Amino acid sequence: MIPPAVVDEVRQTADIVEVISDYLKLQPSGRNYKALSPFTVEKTPSFFVFPDNQIYKCFSTGKAGNIFSFVMEMEKLSFPEAVELVARRSGFDLTRFTEKKNEPKSAHEESLTETLRWAAKFFHGKLASSEGKTGYAYLETERGLTEKTIKSFGLGYAPDAWDRLFTAAKQAGIPQEHLLDLGLITPNKQKNSWYDTFRNRVIFPIFSVGGQVVGFGGRTLEKDSQTPKYLNSQESKLFEKSKLLYGLHAAKNEIRRKETAILVEGYMDVLALHQAGLTNAVASCGTSLTRYQAKILTRYTSRVLFMYDADPAGQKSMMSGIDILLAENLTPFVIMLPKGDDPDSFVRREGGQQFLQFAEEKMLSFLDFQLRFFMESGNFGQPEIKSKAIRTMVHTIALIPDRIRQELYLQELSKKLDITLTALKELLGSEEAGEEKKRSAVENRRDASPPPKPEAELSVLEKTFLKSLLESTLYGNTVLEFAASHEEMLELPHQVAQQIFAHLIDRYQAIADNPEERIDITTEIGLFSNPASRDLAASLLIEQPVSKKWLEQSNVHADNAKRCLAMFLDAFKNLILEPLVGQKNRLTESIRLENDTEREIELLREKIVLDKKIQKTSRDLKKMITTILENS
Ligand code: CTP
Ligand code: MN
Repeated sequence: MIPPAVVDEVRQTADIVEVISDYLKLQPSGRNYKALSPFTVEKTPSFFVFPDNQIYKCFSTGKAGNIFSFVMEMEKLSFPEAVELVARRSGFDLTRFTEKKNEPKSAHEESLTETLRWAAKFFHGKLASSEGKTGYAYLETERGLTEKTIKSFGLGYAPDAWDRLFTAAKQAGIPQEHLLDLGLITPNKQKNSWYDTFRNRVIFPIFSVGGQVVGFGGRTLEKDSQTPKYLNSQESKLFEKSKLLYGLHAAKNEIRRKETAILVEGYMDVLALHQAGLTNAVASCGTSLTRYQAKILTRYTSRVLFMYDADPAGQKSMMSGIDILLAENLTPFVIMLPKGDDPDSFVRREGGQQFLQFAEEKMLSFLDFQLRFFMESGNFGQPEIKSKAIRTMVHTIALIPDRIRQELYLQELSKKLDITLTALKELLGSEEAGEEKKRSAVENRRDASPPPKPEAELSVLEKTFLKSLLESTLYGNTVLEFAASHEEMLELPHQVAQQIFAHLIDRYQAIADNPEERIDITTEIGLFSNPASRDLAASLLIEQPVSKKWLEQSNVHADNAKRCLAMFLDAFKNLILEPLVGQKNRLTESIRLENDTEREIELLREKIVLDKKIQKTSRDLKKMITTILENS
């Protein structure tokens, strides 16, 4: 377990804005930042990051939290794993807390992520062993990778045997279901035993943006043509190949710096380019680029150098990839490599400098690339062929969200093809009409999904109570101490609010023996067991502090701590009195409606008792509050 003080330190060292911009394209909005919410589909940003509080909130879904809960959501990690990831990012070493030394491992304790990490280590270790010699030789001699590249991308080798991983996993206490869930082992036909899925393959671990292993790709060393060249981990919640870009964890900063991403097809292309110093390269891993992958790129840059294999299949994929990139408002440029090359072979032969020079000289705009593609594949002298090409290109331009860019490309096309701009615009109009129809069909389907259920009502009083309780932790433990010793007097009607209250009291009681200890409230909200409590608490924290409001309302020139305490005690008092007053009001109503005189007298007596109780409670509470405030 990572000690709470260390968790606090990690949280305070890391900057939520920096971490979130690995996942979303943040734009400044006053002192805060906003982005399109990753939790829903939307056109207007409703996701906000508040650097002052180090909290985020999505106003469309109500989801809110701190840096850890964000990483948990995005990387699908447990809490300690998220802490570790954030820590690693800012150079903290937490291994001494996370490495389980002699603890026996129970199956449930281990998460799939840990198993993935274990497997990556296993494969990587094999590369250095005698069994892995062929793998190492292949990477080094045949593919020209250096030890440094092999290490930094964690490459590995799956031995040429049936059960090396399976057996090692058993010895390491890795649960078998994990291996099955991750597709690392495969059941035999009789379903009575299992064998390793990856055999005699060099292994490319695939990482999330945050650098977590989420799956593997394996390239066979067999020379026969039956064995598939590449094999990938099976799809799962953790590993969705269509939503990943290989190499992104290592490329993201350079992509930002250079304002350009190099987009290639394969694992080897990324590795060769990175090794040659072109560290802004990522791969779509397969031939067809997805919309999701394009969207990921938009977080880091708007400029994409598209560089698939120089074969007909590669060119075709780029033709469709262009549409996908443009639809996300990215600007693609195409580089056509010499025939027979892929980026890997080209950069290995020519070196990084030559590669860059070639790219610069041969870079084509997407329009020029399309033109060349169509001209090479048909006779432009024939009107049918030419008009079909024009239609396709206008269709592509229609996908660009930006009007001005559309217009500029149309002008270019008009000049290059000697077609009037009017004709092209007309075509664009009809293309867009078609697109619009499709879009609204999609949106209608989306609207049919049930609306999010409305949040239960939180009373103003409860809100003030919670807000001042949460805020008070910034100034010390006075409020918590009071709350803990008067807990039994109060049960908040709102369930989630009560959970927050109870959690904080528990936490306070755990640290109460040590007066030096403080609760870091931004860390703490990430530890609430119910996400609804986290969302509520985070939302309350980003509102105006109660201490400030109190200052405006009351002219009390006490310090924040005291104003906060006063606000809390006031809410506390009213929360206790409120149900009593409610009871009294109901009683008054019953008396008014009662016809039976005897019963009426009885109720009147009850009311007098209740009145006294209210007055006494109110007096006691007021006195107590005055004393506390005077002594604080
Ligand atoms: N790929 C895949 N699964 C497959 C085939 C291909 O995931 N069944 C992905 C891999 O990421 C691969 C990329 O598509 O790197 C390109 O495939 P290909 O051009 O066939 O391989 P190369 O990368 O050129 O492989 P090599 O140079 O090792 O022959
Ligand atoms: Mn290749």
